[in-house]
Amino acid sequence: MEKKHCIIVTVVISLVIVFVAVVLEITLGKRTFKQEFEYRCSKFESSKKYNCTEIWHEFEKAYVNRDPCKIPMNAYDSLVAAAPFEHAYNKTLFWSKTKNLVRDLTKNRDDVNLEKTLLGSVLDGLTWCGKMGSSETFTKGCPEWNECVNNPPRSFWNRLSTAFADVACEDVTLILDGSIDTPFNPSTTFATIEVKRIKYPKVKSLTVVIVPQKSNCNSESLKALKSALVQGITYNCKEVTEAKIKKCSSDPKTPIGKCW
Ligand SMILES: *[C@@H]1O[C@H](CO)[C@@H](O)[C@H](O)[C@H]1NC(C)=O
Ligand SMILES: *[C@@H]1O[C@H](CO)[C@@H](O)[C@H](O)[C@H]1NC(C)=O
Repeated sequence: MEKKHCIIVTVVISLVIVFVAVVLEITLGKRTFKQEFEYRCSKFESSKKYNCTEIWHEFEKAYVNRDPCKIPMNAYDSLVAAAPFEHAYNKTLFWSKTKNLVRDLTKNRDDVNLEKTLLGSVLDGLTWCGKMGSSETFTKGCPEWNECVNNPPRSFWNRLSTAFADVACEDVTLILDGSIDTPFNPSTTFATIEVKRIKYPKVKSLTVVIVPQKSNCNSESLKALKSALVQGITYNCKEVTEAKIKKCSSDPKTPIGKCW
């Protein structure tokens, strides 16, 4: 009798634990957009203490109660001013269609891509917009990336990319995708924004890194990049195997420049 009792109690306790765990997971997994923003902001590793409440306030001012197709880049000026960059500007890395690869490469290094900055890390992968007559932030029913040019995320990333390219200095690196025909695609953020903002003599050189497949350092697409580059900046191109990049990602003690 005692044993049966014991089993029943154990089963009931286990069920309660599972139930509580499920409820917790659901509530924790369902942060509102604002909660997610503030959570990521507060988690940002930094020597500086950013005021995340103020940053949120500057952020929502850009798009709340506005037509979500009429948010220009400069709507985010005060947000960008409220969260100034603090990375080493001579460790700037750009990417185009190689986001995950670059994320792995810079993960445990002090080299910095846009998604490692405060605002970049807070808004990476998120969608948001406002609506006329509402003071709320929406994550559903927002314009698609290509639906209208001046939608809230697109203008934000363009604005942040501009600021990021403006501070870059010395030798910068650009990681491109060699598995496509046009690794320097004229419609990407790098081509429309960043390449025009990196200036000589602040930036001395641009090193393109590409895993050669469909495209390599001799591709037409890269000739277009070379001519789009501001005069004076030295252009280099390095072909590197995927295996070497992977190896370098798992060995962050190797300076990134030695990876290619
Ligand atoms: C952060 O900013 C908010 C809004 O501007 C302000 O009320 C608050 O006092 C600030 N917090 C700190 C710790 O400075
Ligand atoms: C890069 O900038 C940092 C300061 O942000 C400086 O300490 C370092 O010496 C610079 N590195 C090079 C190679 O110039």
